Amino acid sequence: MIHSGLRAENSSLQKKVIDLNTIYYESCLETMKRIEDNYIDLVITSPPYNMNLRIRNGQYCSRQIVKEFSTKYSGFDDNLPIEEFYNLHSNILEELLRVSKIIFYNIQIVPGSKRAFFKMIGKYSDYLKDIIVWDKGFAQPAMASNVLNRQSELILVFERENAISRQFSKCNFKRGTLDDIWKIGRGKKVDKNHSAVFPEKLVQTVLTNFTNENDIVYDPFMGTGTTGFVASRMNRKWIGSEINAEYCKTALKRIKSSEELFLSVEYDNETKPNNEQQMLIFDKPSKIKYGKTKQVKKNKKRSA
Ligand SMILES: C[S@@+](CC[C@H](N)C(=O)[O-])C[C@H]1O[C@@H](n2cnc3c(N)ncnc32)[C@H](O)[C@@H]1O
Repeated sequence: MIHSGLRAENSSLQKKVIDLNTIYYESCLETMKRIEDNYIDLVITSPPYNMNLRIRNGQYCSRQIVKEFSTKYSGFDDNLPIEEFYNLHSNILEELLRVSKIIFYNIQIVPGSKRAFFKMIGKYSDYLKDIIVWDKGFAQPAMASNVLNRQSELILVFERENAISRQFSKCNFKRGTLDDIWKIGRGKKVDKNHSAVFPEKLVQTVLTNFTNENDIVYDPFMGTGTTGFVASRMNRKWIGSEINAEYCKTALKRIKSSEELFLSVEYDNETKPNNEQQMLIFDKPSKIKYGKTKQVKKNKKRSA
């Protein structure tokens, strides 16, 4: 199911209500306004890395956006000034610590995010439980001389309570069986306009070791829906937020495919709304609504 921000605005004064197994087409900060304290069992997420903020002559500057080269997403510049990027992520982490018991925040050290993320780690060091190194197996050659090739990303683990201890209050692995370096290859592209997809195995590793069936998993930067897809396959409940309509649709389709369903949406041109946000008022899991939309649900085998 996908909810639009329009519905969210209407309900913002009401009691906090969030629907499970739903993608919220809006900023995660909006979605979290509707989540009760401590409601989420686990967050797993990969935020945008501010890839297009670069350094030239010792100063921050925005990189010229060249589609093939520097754009990981469509409709999103990914080049906030460093202080804004820091404030945004601090606000998001603050809210995540309110709504969730534990948070797996995947970051990559690039010029546009490095200072902001390390400053954020400092600010929230009381909640930093551990750091996992994601080893992607090989590095792409650095684009500039005198720069290390980057083969790893980090997964910052934050916990609201008892982060002072490295012992997890909830986990499924036995003593001595889970390392802090995870060798997992890069994710496969599932949308031609999105090049920063989680590998399913990464999400699966987190959910296997730190959640149980029916737990609620939230991804505030849902992208193409890997978290929802894996959570659904593993019988976890999930919620996602995503600001790009195309990715919402890709994610929903992908998650539905994990339930062996295909969704296709038919409308005639007269009833097709102009406003993309209006198009995304989806109701129940089995139903998509916008204007006189018809939803066609097909069995995978039959349509093959
Ligand atoms: C690195 S991608 C996530 C990829 C995702 N893990 C996957 O497997 O596809 C980050 C996503 O965050 C989205 N995004 C950026 N700012 C956002 C915000 N404030 N709230 C929700 N989503 C946001 C971008 O559109 C992008 O799709």
